[in-house]
Amino acid sequence: MCGIVGYVGSRNCVPIILEGLKRLEYRGYDSAGIALVKDGLFSIDKKAGKVADLVQHLSHYNGSLSAQLGMGHTRWATHGEPNDINAHPHWDSEEKIAVIHNGIIENYSTIKTKLVREGHVFRSATDTEVLAHLIEEMYKRTQNLASAVRHALAEVEGTYGLVVLSTHESDRMIAARKGSPLIIGVGDGENFVASDAAAIVDHTRQVIYMKDGEVAEITATNIRTMTIDDEDTEREIEEITFELSQIERGGYDHFMLKEIHEQPETITNAMRGRLQVDEGTVVLGGLRDVQDKLLKARRIVITACGTSWHAGLVGEYLFEEIARIPTEVEYASEFRYRNPIINSDDVVFLISQSGETADTLAAGREAKQKGATVLGIVNVVGSTIARESHGGVYVHAGPEIGVASTKAFTSQLTVLSLITLMIARAKGTITEKHAQVLSQELAAIPEKVSRILAKTTEQIKEIAEEFRNAQNFLYLGRGANFPVALEGALKLKEISYIHAEGYPAAEMKHGPIALIDENMPVVFVVPKDGIYEKVISNLQEVKARRGRIIAVANEDDHEIEELADFVIRVPRTYGYFGPIVNIIPLQLLSYYMAVARGTNVDQPRNLAKSVTVE
Ligand code: F6R
Repeated sequence: MCGIVGYVGSRNCVPIILEGLKRLEYRGYDSAGIALVKDGLFSIDKKAGKVADLVQHLSHYNGSLSAQLGMGHTRWATHGEPNDINAHPHWDSEEKIAVIHNGIIENYSTIKTKLVREGHVFRSATDTEVLAHLIEEMYKRTQNLASAVRHALAEVEGTYGLVVLSTHESDRMIAARKGSPLIIGVGDGENFVASDAAAIVDHTRQVIYMKDGEVAEITATNIRTMTIDDEDTEREIEEITFELSQIERGGYDHFMLKEIHEQPETITNAMRGRLQVDEGTVVLGGLRDVQDKLLKARRIVITACGTSWHAGLVGEYLFEEIARIPTEVEYASEFRYRNPIINSDDVVFLISQSGETADTLAAGREAKQKGATVLGIVNVVGSTIARESHGGVYVHAGPEIGVASTKAFTSQLTVLSLITLMIARAKGTITEKHAQVLSQELAAIPEKVSRILAKTTEQIKEIAEEFRNAQNFLYLGRGANFPVALEGALKLKEISYIHAEGYPAAEMKHGPIALIDENMPVVFVVPKDGIYEKVISNLQEVKARRGRIIAVANEDDHEIEELADFVIRVPRTYGYFGPIVNIIPLQLLSYYMAVARGTNVDQPRNLAKSVTVE
């Protein structure tokens, strides 16, 4: 959630760290700080607000700030409000040890009480500060920074990705990871540490993904990784797979808009080399070793959070209707704490863009421990969920920087469709002919998405202008488009702060209908499918109560004009693949609503991109 970047080498690290922080800002953005070690002394600056506020604050150095060892942090507050004091880095009593930290130290209060009793004076309200003081105590005993960090971490409960610098040993960084991602960037005569490859890809493509429980001692020319008990660990250097251009805005006003527009390409990438349209077959290398388990699965459980959970709901329709496997979808945060009944012939899918979401990760561990086959549908290559799963499929959407997830969602849906086709063909729940038709339908989706983007944008901008002052929105859909309604509502509330609810259209009359009057905009997702007439009845019910209707309807639907105030046209698509297409106008609507209201689209208040705390 927060961002970490560190450097040791021979270059001036100030621009490297500040540039890295800007690239990480999408992860958490309520304050930022930088610590530099030079001539045996620390210089630490921190500021509430954006990285730009920190940069502005640093201007009082008149460009004289420079060091070859340093680290920076962007914070998303957990303990203590976002102000200058609570921003990271945090020091020990003597200002000789500084720490930046992502995650939560759960037993910080007990440790703090003990340290206060021993005479330590705390400056901030954060859990992180206890680490600095604890390491200070351990350093007194060990006189070795790496050992002091290891000993301190042995007393800590909770999660962390952290970096420690000290003027005692001013040629090295100590990094440690448990539950919060951390990578080491390997350079030539210089090394980096970061919570996300985006921060360092400018400088190196060679990285080591730190494992949970690992500590690293990093100098300009050497990297040693070890366990908390000082056992050396194996290091594997891997290559960053994305390009710098993928993490830049490339002429768009916001990352979210860029990512919405990337979807024809990202959906294609999700299918590339996997879908054989003419044969109606699917090859998914990451599932080869677990194919048998998947085909024999008694039940599929999909667990995820937020937008990825919505993708899971569509997955339930796909798996049950086409592959005929009983499927349940559960919030990861609920699943992990309710002692679920899991058998060895269950397959549990974890869906996650980041691959680091704490609840999803914990749900996967729980399922694994109970003997299930655990499979990931993940975007970020090398992420923890990807590594810990028995198998899985990358969605290949490329880096998603906008906090509101868009392209990852449609890629998740595409991958779920591919997995469904693969199972259905192998189990014979659909014929070869049917599979070929479905494959053609899938292959046609990127072109349909391009068409929607080209044809609806201007109209959606006008609708956004019309409703920019709305206080509430209702989103309704049925069948596989019910999750689309949920996702449309989530997108709207996330970035424009308008209260929005998604409902199955027929549920409306069991309560939400009380909300409907001439001030309530209601978005209907109403494609011409088997339940079209039913949704139209629900739409009539809203119209009768003077609700204002925005319909997402097919290009050949001529009835709808009479009923809806606004009709956004989408091409017809095979029912269960429809959500991939139907969500596009809702993403655009939330984007242009936010722009019309002047909110910060890419960094909406209170949110963070990757939720690595419970
Ligand atoms: C919504 C959004 C969040 C995430 C959720 C899960 O736009 O981005 O709801 O979908 O936090 O994140 P991942 O997919 O990274 O596990």
